Amino acid sequence: MCGIVGVVGSKNATDILMQGLEKLEYRGYDSAGIFVNGQKTAAKLVKSVGRIADLRAKLGIDVSGTSGIGHTRWATHGKPTEDNAHPHTSSSGRFVLVHNGVIENFVELKNEFLMNDSFKGQTDTEIAVHLIAKFAEEENLTTLEAFKKALKLIQGSYAFALMDREDADLIYVAKNKSPLLIGLGDGYNMVCSDAMAMIRETSEFMEIHDKELVVLTKDKVEVMDYEGQIISRDSYTAELDLSDIGKGTYPFYMLKEIDEQPAVMRKLIATYTNEDGTMKVDQDIIKGIQEADRIYIIAAGTSYHAGFGAKMMLEALTDTPVELGLASEWGYDMPLLSKKPFFIFLSQSGETADSRQVLVKVNELGLPSLTVTNVPGSTLSREATYTMLIGAGPEIAVASTKAYTGQIATLAFLAKAVGEAEGQAKAKDFDLVKELSLVAQSIESTLSEKDEIAAIVSELLPTTRSAFYIGRKQDYYVAMEASLKLKEISYIQCEGFAAGELKHGTISLIEKGTPVLALISNNEEVAAHTRGNVMETVARGASAITIVEEGVAREDDTIVINQVHPYLSAISMVIPTQLIAYYASMQRGLDVDKPRNLAKAVTVE
Ligand code: G6P
Repeated sequence: MCGIVGVVGSKNATDILMQGLEKLEYRGYDSAGIFVNGQKTAAKLVKSVGRIADLRAKLGIDVSGTSGIGHTRWATHGKPTEDNAHPHTSSSGRFVLVHNGVIENFVELKNEFLMNDSFKGQTDTEIAVHLIAKFAEEENLTTLEAFKKALKLIQGSYAFALMDREDADLIYVAKNKSPLLIGLGDGYNMVCSDAMAMIRETSEFMEIHDKELVVLTKDKVEVMDYEGQIISRDSYTAELDLSDIGKGTYPFYMLKEIDEQPAVMRKLIATYTNEDGTMKVDQDIIKGIQEADRIYIIAAGTSYHAGFGAKMMLEALTDTPVELGLASEWGYDMPLLSKKPFFIFLSQSGETADSRQVLVKVNELGLPSLTVTNVPGSTLSREATYTMLIGAGPEIAVASTKAYTGQIATLAFLAKAVGEAEGQAKAKDFDLVKELSLVAQSIESTLSEKDEIAAIVSELLPTTRSAFYIGRKQDYYVAMEASLKLKEISYIQCEGFAAGELKHGTISLIEKGTPVLALISNNEEVAAHTRGNVMETVARGASAITIVEEGVAREDDTIVINQVHPYLSAISMVIPTQLIAYYASMQRGLDVDKPRNLAKAVTVE
């Protein structure tokens, strides 16, 4: 949520900043800006409402230099206007700041220190840069001293990159809770919200921890605490592949990422099985779960739904109850825990602030935790006791697809490994390698029906304003994810409902032509009941679309998909719903990858 990038010591500062912002656009895209400076060039600040492309259109050739900072915004305080866009400047224009996060005490800081200042916009960030300027200009402090003083007063989450117009060779950086990384180049250094946005320039990175300050010059990176104590920190080489982040000939990343799912399943088989077919899962994680009396899965958005998709399998194979928690709720309303809890954090990005605040509390309680994430080295991965990687490759589209299916599949390896360690017959009998290969085939078969699915969407959801997904058991969980996907990118109001619950009130919303999409996987008893619920809606005018697994399919079903093991049906059943969302968005002419109001990594609570 909000992306920041900075570079010092490169002739191509503008190009590096703009390339970085384009890669960071998934974090927010309502406005953007850059500040560029150099010894021999005049400092320039350019801001724009809209996308990075709008900012690029405003850049003249005179915007060049050797250092600079840039920002792409997801508005929290103040509307997306040019005045609220970052970088923000102090009154004199000397100090320039970009920020990702939320300063919780900005009103108090303004009242205490800045009553006589006037501000251009409404952001909390503008208060921070005025505060730094006040300390530097009125108390005659150096920029570093003024920054340190401000950091000790500022409460909340932040990743800051600060420049002093009078010194083009320095960038000051600090972070608390929001993600930020240093990139080390040959003769230049960088700072950025994530590694992906820097990999064109470097594969050498350095972590920054919370409440650390970093001074960057072209050939030096100095990490210190807020008292100025120097901290030594090793760099590391990241295994990222630049080719992973292109979209090739695809019109949108989302379609590419949907298509990658069979490969993700096969890669997971290779990652989590030994040559003899046994599970390759860290023994300490297995032991941690064996010792637990309850598994708590904490997540947000699509990852939360992935947790539900894996719940039945985890309970069956580990013989341990699984409870799901919405991260944004549990941070401040944690229920009474069991005697021996084990926490699993599901997070594509590994950066979600809501999830992290729960992890902080879990760590304070000294409880064991596992992060299942797609991003190695991410905050949740670093701070949990253990990590399992999904290895799905970068997911760029805001609407998550391959991370959802990858999370469930990763948890399948964990569930089987624990079940086998427990000597569970059910776990031994569950041939995961074979079953996940069948899932990959089922996905491929659904993907080969793209044209038919696109046609169904244009026929049945052309101008629809609202819709329902319904299902029972696993299918209900998939309905929740399917409806989120449709809402996110097509703006159709859609609810995922337990099929049997609809008649207890919500059925009053069904009108002539309301699309009701029913998910029916291969469970005869449940299938019959869901079909009954579909008929109830049809009797009231609904247009039914049925997405059915082979074993219980009928001739008049809309979409029939290959049957898979019931533990894994949340993976294969979701695929047609991803495509339905994709085509509904595309046919409406929307920006599929960057839906309005959203951001991919939500780093504010
Ligand atoms: C944001 C994204 C969602 C995502 C959720 C959780 O809201 O727009 O697509 O599911 O964050 O993200 P995480 O990275 O923790 O899985």
